[in-house]
Amino acid sequence: MTPITTIEDLRVLAKKRVPKALFDYVDGGSYDENTLRANRQAFMDITLRQRALVDTSKRDISTTMLGEKVAMPVALAPTGMTGLLHGNGEMLAAQAAEKFGTKFCLSTLSINTVEEVAGAVNNPIWFQLYVFKDRGFAQAMIDRAKAAKVSALFLTVDLAYRGQRHADIKNGLVVPPRMTMRNAWDMTTKVRWWSSLIGKRHSFGNLDSYLGQVNTVKQGSWASRNSDQSLNWKDLEWIRERWGGKIVLKGINDVEDAKRAASEGVDGIVVSNHGGRQLDCTTGTMTTLPYIADAVGDQLEVLLDSGVRGGHDVFKAIALGAKGVMIGRPFLYGLAAMGGTGVSSALEVFRESFDNCMILCGVNKVSEISRKHLYMPPLKN
Ligand SMILES: Cc1cc2nc3c(=O)[nH]c(=O)nc-3n(C[C@H](O)[C@H](O)[C@H](O)COP(=O)(O)O)c2cc1C
Repeated sequence: MTPITTIEDLRVLAKKRVPKALFDYVDGGSYDENTLRANRQAFMDITLRQRALVDTSKRDISTTMLGEKVAMPVALAPTGMTGLLHGNGEMLAAQAAEKFGTKFCLSTLSINTVEEVAGAVNNPIWFQLYVFKDRGFAQAMIDRAKAAKVSALFLTVDLAYRGQRHADIKNGLVVPPRMTMRNAWDMTTKVRWWSSLIGKRHSFGNLDSYLGQVNTVKQGSWASRNSDQSLNWKDLEWIRERWGGKIVLKGINDVEDAKRAASEGVDGIVVSNHGGRQLDCTTGTMTTLPYIADAVGDQLEVLLDSGVRGGHDVFKAIALGAKGVMIGRPFLYGLAAMGGTGVSSALEVFRESFDNCMILCGVNKVSEISRKHLYMPPLKN
């Protein structure tokens, strides 16, 4: 097999190996995908300063994220339905992250349950919470995450309603994937994929024990029906009270919201637009990051995701004030292409390119990376 040297290599392989409906679910963005493109463009608009003759022979690319040691400042973002890209996908991804020395964040809408994933690794995982109209579900999930010794709770705040992804509708995406006349050939020929799923869980594992053993299509429609537009800042209080541990707001992409998060005393935020899957036509996260970092970076930990595709992007995000980044699609392409090995390959792509950046920008420690390592347009205000 041709060596994997980029995330795009994994993407191309993933496209060949999983059914079209699942590949499109991962790959696409909402509506006209303007936000999806803006995320990448914002990274491309920033250039690095190449430095010469700096001794970097003793450099160290490790750091901390939310107070936990990481081998490099890249963690795996929470993604729904991951266990349908490859059987036991969430467990495999968590194990690959742990082996690498970084963190894995499990989605509420995962296939493996929080107990299964926490039990598959030695160190605590992170957990992402969706709060639905039925508050009893969030309360039960918080209790389960606590019992599973989760070390940080990520409350997603950019999904008051699901952004429409046209491909999912056109492909008739359902969970679990169902064979129809239209997709029969596509599904049966993806042998690696379906054989990985035999005997594994196919439902939204965390919903099973709450809704009972209803079929997964019903679980999916319960989640859609229950998306809650009344969720607001006041709800933070009961969530924090019940949780009692570290809390991070995921899906902040505006300075005013970041300031409010800081005044509420949360431990961190993820500057994120859900990877261009929610509000279309919004700003790329790298455009807002420096404003947000300037406003609140001394009060809470600022993480960033959406469009991070390699170590150069990680370096740029840290230079603009992020403590670390999260990646969604890059590890999902790896998982869909090659299971746990593919997740490790994705992390290795990041490690190699981030290390390369450190050397050629003349940096020895992650904490030394700053705006002085960039050429970028001046901030507007
Ligand atoms: C297939 C897929 C499913 C996702 N599911 C969730 C989810 O269940 N909860 C959540 O908070 N974010 C979810 N996200 C958003 C990711 O956590 C993250 O913000 C995004 O993937 C980052 O952008 P990137 O894919 O460009 O790295 C999902 C993203 C993808 C691609």
